[in-house]
Amino acid sequence: MSPDVSDSATGPAARPARTAAVIPAAGRGLRLGPGAPKALRALNGTPMLVHAVRAMARARAVSLVVVVAPPDGAAEVRTLLDDYPLPMAEAADVLVVPGGETRQESVRLGLAALPADVTTVLVHDAARPLVPVDTVDSVIAAVRGGAPAVVPALPLADTVKQVEPRTDGEPEPVVGTPERAVLRAVQTPQGFDRATLDRAHHAVALEGQGATDDAGMVERLGVQVVVVPGHEEAFKVTRPLDMVLAEAVLARRRANDGF
Ligand code: CTP
Ligand code: MG
Repeated sequence: MSPDVSDSATGPAARPARTAAVIPAAGRGLRLGPGAPKALRALNGTPMLVHAVRAMARARAVSLVVVVAPPDGAAEVRTLLDDYPLPMAEAADVLVVPGGETRQESVRLGLAALPADVTTVLVHDAARPLVPVDTVDSVIAAVRGGAPAVVPALPLADTVKQVEPRTDGEPEPVVGTPERAVLRAVQTPQGFDRATLDRAHHAVALEGQGATDDAGMVERLGVQVVVVPGHEEAFKVTRPLDMVLAEAVLARRRANDGF
């Protein structure tokens, strides 16, 4: 059989949709306080980034993980990840690329490294190392089911006030109280039809208008974004207390695994 014939037999139409995860990990973690870049800090002895890569690779559909490293730290991150190989059952290719000055720029650089055959993309913060695989799977399933953009989210525990921000230390006036029942706190991985997310990044690059999450950029295109249930263990490690919580979650998992 000529290579052409075998190629067409297994060509793009016959191949299952390929899913990749982009992990922005280029931030410094200023709110966590002085120390190594946040993604490289250890949780129960294992770097946060390694937990995050495993959380993506654990999803059966994910065959490629692109890690976006600090701009000057790609070689260090590559070495670190090589020191923590994925278990056989969670095999996935892992690419490392240097990131940018903003999260959005880092995601754009990660997307640029994706091979052409990737049709579904997850974007997942390295700072959410403990997201359960069921949450990842449900995001992927919703995208594969036809939704162009999917975000995991939870109802809010706190009531939220809109204020007129002040920087002079005076009390901030409240201007409104959005109805809590219609609000959701969004997490990652956010899942996308690859072409839609590429288009959103191109549009934002042209307009120069940022968004605080990837789905927000897709919303600007006028494309419908949908929400699936998030998970409390998908919280973002932002401040020192979050490190304590993350280690407690890992300890609880380890204890439960003992049974
Ligand atoms: N991120 C990135 N590139 C940047 C900034 C952020 O890849 N230039 C990544 C972070 O590494 C993190 C995710 O985006 O995984 C979410 O950002 P955040 O929690 O704000 O992390 P940091 O920016 O590192 O933290 P801080 O804002 O406290 O400095
Ligand atoms: Mg940040």
